[in-house]
Amino acid sequence: MVNETRRISPDEVAAEISACEKVRAEISKIFESAPTYYIETFGCQQNEADSQRLAGICRLCGYVPTRNIKEAKLILFNTCAIREHAEKKALSIIGETKHIKEKDSRVIIGIGGCMVSQKRRADKIKNSNPYVNFTFDTGAIHSVPSLILGAVRGQKRKFILSDNFGIAEGIPFHNETPYKAWLSIMYGCNNFCSYCIVPYVRGRERSRRPEDILAEARQLIEAGAKDITLLGQNVNSYGRDLGGMGIASLMREICKIEGDFRLRFMTSHPKDASDELIAAMAEEEKIVKHFHLPVQSGSNRVLDAMNRKYTREKYLSIIKKLKAAVPDVSITSDIIVAFPGETDEEFEETLSLLSEVRYDMIFSFIYSPREGTPAAALDCQIDRAVANDRYSRLLALQDEITAERNARFVGRTMKVLCEEVSKTDPGMMTGRGNTPRPVHFAGDESLIGQFVNVKITKSDLFSLSGEIV
Ligand code: SAH
Ligand code: SF4
Ligand code: F3S
Repeated sequence: MVNETRRISPDEVAAEISACEKVRAEISKIFESAPTYYIETFGCQQNEADSQRLAGICRLCGYVPTRNIKEAKLILFNTCAIREHAEKKALSIIGETKHIKEKDSRVIIGIGGCMVSQKRRADKIKNSNPYVNFTFDTGAIHSVPSLILGAVRGQKRKFILSDNFGIAEGIPFHNETPYKAWLSIMYGCNNFCSYCIVPYVRGRERSRRPEDILAEARQLIEAGAKDITLLGQNVNSYGRDLGGMGIASLMREICKIEGDFRLRFMTSHPKDASDELIAAMAEEEKIVKHFHLPVQSGSNRVLDAMNRKYTREKYLSIIKKLKAAVPDVSITSDIIVAFPGETDEEFEETLSLLSEVRYDMIFSFIYSPREGTPAAALDCQIDRAVANDRYSRLLALQDEITAERNARFVGRTMKVLCEEVSKTDPGMMTGRGNTPRPVHFAGDESLIGQFVNVKITKSDLFSLSGEIV
């Protein structure tokens, strides 16, 4: 296929980013010392990666970070729309900024991300939240410098909704934990699963050029990255629009870069889980032996209604190949319960699929109708009590499986990247091995960002623990 992806020209991006200099000059007239920025991120890793770009922009504009929203002079929200709860949470926190602005009119408030990439949401913010200076959709991050500039200069409020999402290279970014990095390799989604809002808020699939990705990977590794996750809504369809290398070859190229680092990727769609990708995972030492392959449901009727484009049998055949090629692989999944019209028997099929696959972990969600998606218009929505009951049964079964899967690591020594001080015990450190599970071990902050060998002595539902050897 020909490359039809809209690439925003380097000159255009550079011109947009040069607005940061002008912001710098303006704020030096308004504030005595460097003002602070605060970014709150909702949703998935894609949003976290986008927020690193926003942080890069804020810094280039002359703002310094704060963890206290109440003292921030530039507040950015990066929102999510995947379920109703995500939107409600964001709207409630956005509402609270009204008081911050009342105390200091110099405060600038901007909202980006998937929620405000929907016209009705952007319109609502425009009409009901007059203290919000601007909104921008997921394709307009490169325009944020000029949005901030306009707000600093007291110009009219702006609400950006692009009709043609492109790729902008060259936006600065800031990563607070350089040892752990996100690397977006593609954007958007073409799948239109019938329940999902993502294709409407992130546009069509578009892949970054391999040379741009490899250059960024080198840059990250030079900056100390030891754990890199390649990101895309549908990451294993990488390259379709370019007609060149797919994700397997791309990962093999990244693995050739010199350095002690690990490579992960998410999220994959079963329809694109190729033999080449499985082979790359089996053969490349740097690729983490973890495959996140969301199945959503175990029932063929429901899968069809979801427009997932595979059957239970097809999915299980991929799992079989994967387990044969990568014997100790950790497999994880997303599951939706109570999709409109899901019967008890169909739900049972999801339970039986869990028992068959034996996932290391699942992320499970009760179906949430999203306005504008085909599933939201179905008139067979499931009763809340039934949905809750199915959800509990799903978790109970998976807990048993998870406990059993985690226990297999006890007694093994694992190479773990020390990431942070444990959230529950300040004497312990938390890191990650070659699995999706966190590992706790005694240590101190000097180990952060380094690999250590940990002998696993204990496992529970959520984590592993052990001692450095
Ligand atoms: N692109 C990825 C992730 C999409 S969002 C993928 O295709 O797997 C992450 C998960 O949220 C989805 O896998 C799905 O399980 C869940 N999800 C998406 N839309 C939802 C909805 N309307 N209600 C409940 N869960 C939803
Ligand atoms: Fe949503 Fe489906 Fe695309 Fe995933 S593949 S982002 S679930 S439409
Ligand atoms: Fe949410 Fe958008 Fe990610 S809807 S899950 S932030 S792609």
